[in-house]
Amino acid sequence: MSFLATVKQRAKAQIKTIVLPESLDPRTLKATQQVLAEGLAKVILIGNKTAIEAAAKESAADISGATIIDPASYNELNTLIAKFYELRKDKGLTEEQAGKFLNENPLYLGCMLVKDDKADGMVAGAVYSTPDVLRPAMQIIKTAPGVSMVSSFFVMVVPSCEYGSNGVFLFSDCGLVQNPDAAQLATIAESSAKSYKSLMGEEPVVALLSHSTKCSARHADVDKVIEAVRILKERAPHLKADGEFQLDAAIVPSIGAAKAPGNEVAGNANVLIFPDLDSGNIAYKLVERLAKADAYGPVTQGIAKPVNDLSRGCTAEDLVGVVAITAVQAQQ
Ligand SMILES: CC(C)(COP(=O)(O)OP(=O)(O)OC[C@H]1O[C@@H](n2cnc3c(N)ncnc32)[C@H](O)[C@@H]1OP(=O)(O)O)[C@@H](O)C(=O)NCCC(=O)NCCS
Repeated sequence: MSFLATVKQRAKAQIKTIVLPESLDPRTLKATQQVLAEGLAKVILIGNKTAIEAAAKESAADISGATIIDPASYNELNTLIAKFYELRKDKGLTEEQAGKFLNENPLYLGCMLVKDDKADGMVAGAVYSTPDVLRPAMQIIKTAPGVSMVSSFFVMVVPSCEYGSNGVFLFSDCGLVQNPDAAQLATIAESSAKSYKSLMGEEPVVALLSHSTKCSARHADVDKVIEAVRILKERAPHLKADGEFQLDAAIVPSIGAAKAPGNEVAGNANVLIFPDLDSGNIAYKLVERLAKADAYGPVTQGIAKPVNDLSRGCTAEDLVGVVAITAVQAQQ
C-alpha cells in the first residue's frame, strides 16, 4: 500500500475534526468535499456562511457536510476572545486586539478552536505564507509537553529505491528551524523519530547527517552534530539513532559497513536529520526533482496539537493528503 493510502486508512480509523480556515479558496472547498466523501475527517470552515456557500457553488464543491463557523454570529466567540487575551496578555496583547484577531484573521480563530478542543488540528497555507500559518500555532497552541521546539519534516517517497524503508524516508528539518544548535538538533531528531513511528507504524532508524562520518573530517559544523548525537543518546537511549554520518554512509549498507563497521544505524537509516535548514531544504528539493520522489510536507512536529502548512502552489489533492496526515497526528 502507498504511503498516502496507509495514512488515509489510519485517518479513517479514528475520525478527527480539522479546521480549514482559507474557506473561500476553491482548492479548500474541493478538498473539503473530498475529505468528507472519503471519510478522512470532519471539517470546520471559517467565514461568512453565504459567501462560503456561494464560493462552493462556483467551484462545484459539495460542502454540505462541513461545519461553518462565522465569527460574526459564533456564540462562543467572546469566550474564545477572553481565553486568547488571557493567553497573550503578558506578551502585550490587549482585549481589543484579541477581538480584532479572532474576528478578522481566520488563522487565529482556527488555532483558538484547536486550543479549546473544538477541533483537533488545522491545515492552511494555500493562501497565507508559512510564517503567517505557523506563528499563531506557536503563539496559541504551543509545543507539546516535554518538547522545547516546533520543527518540521517531509516524508519522501522515492520510486524504485532499495534504501530507507523501500524508498520511504523522513527528512528533517527542511522547512522551519533555520540554524539549530546541537540541543535543538537533538530535539528535531527525537521529534522526527516519533513522527516516523506514528505515521509509518515502523521502527525509526535515525541518522544525523554531516559532511563527515565518525570524525573523518574536523570542523565546528561536525562538532555540532557530534554533540547533538551525544545529547540525543542521553535523552532517548532507547532510540536507534547515531551520527555523524555522510549521506551515503547513512543509507547505503555497503558504504555504512565500510565507513562505520558494526554500526546498526549506518546503511540502514530511514530518518535523515540535516544539520541546518539550508542543507535540509536543498536535499528534499533535489530528491524531489532529480529522483522524481513524492514529497509530503512540510509537516510540523512538536506542537501540542497539529497545525500544518501548505505550499501556496498546492492542489486540492495535496490539501486532502495533508488533512489526512494532520488527522493521524491528532490521534497521537
Ligand atoms: C516559523 C517562523 C515564522 C517564526 O518566526 P517569527 O514569526 O519571526 O516568530 P517569532 O520568532 O517572533 O516567534 C513567534 C512565537 O513563536 C515562538 N516560536 C518561534 N519559533 C519556534 C519554534 N521553532 N518552536 C516553538 N516556538 C517557536 C516564539 O517563541 C514566539 O512565541 P511568543 O510570542 O509566545 O514569545 C520562523 O521560524 C520562520 O520564518 N522559519 C522559516 C520558515 C520558512 O520560511 N521556511 C521556508 C522553507 S519551507
